[in-house]
Amino acid sequence: MSENASVLPIFVYKSTDSTNMRAKEAAGSEEFSRAVFVAERQTRGRGRLGRSFSSKRGKGLYLSLLTEGGIPAERGIDITTYMAVTARDVLAELTGLDVKIKWVNDLYVNGKKVGGILTEGETDADGMLKYAICGIGINLKKQKFDAELQSIATTVEDECGASPDINTLLGKLISRFYEELETAGTRELADRYRAHSTVIGRSVTVIKKSEQYPATVTGINDRCMLELLLPDGSRELLSTGEVSLRL
Ligand code: BTN
Repeated sequence: MSENASVLPIFVYKSTDSTNMRAKEAAGSEEFSRAVFVAERQTRGRGRLGRSFSSKRGKGLYLSLLTEGGIPAERGIDITTYMAVTARDVLAELTGLDVKIKWVNDLYVNGKKVGGILTEGETDADGMLKYAICGIGINLKKQKFDAELQSIATTVEDECGASPDINTLLGKLISRFYEELETAGTRELADRYRAHSTVIGRSVTVIKKSEQYPATVTGINDRCMLELLLPDGSRELLSTGEVSLRL
């Protein structure tokens, strides 16, 4: 192998608690700064805001991509939005489905959640990310979701009658993620993010740790922050938190 050839380790698990946890353990390795972690099943798949992510054996794609840090911690959101656009495009290409992005990290098809993204990292004393882990879960095959998910979650198979070959999906996601990572945080990416957003122009409930309140989404800026109009006429820019769509 040539000295300059880069090696991308790929770790595959029949079962693990969380691929993001496996990536976290490997972060800081002297042998590699990038690596891929895939599981057939997760026993403690994790979502944003402390939620769990349903990860039944062979029913979905459970993938974490470890990458170098070196960017300010507040730019971690760029990795999430970048993966959202990348995964949306790959899934749409392979299935023909109209895949949408629900700010900030969810993939939606026909009004239901088909996948989610959880980016994690560790910050150094200067507020820079030492590394970043981008975890993505996609519901591929029909399955019985827990009661609280049944009305809000769906699978690719439910929506188009078949699910793509998982190895093809993995290959495309991994290669595109690393190939185009430098486009994270760019205006061009924000344009693609906006083009597939489910929330622009919608009435939403803003969900924060300590409060919830109604708002209208007027746009998404070039940093993929949510532009909100509140009932009292004031405006807010949201970079973290979550919104739920109001009908
Ligand atoms: C969310 O819906 O809030 C995000 C879900 C992210 C799930 C993926 S599955 C692979 C990786 N490992 C985890 O424990 N979580 C992410």
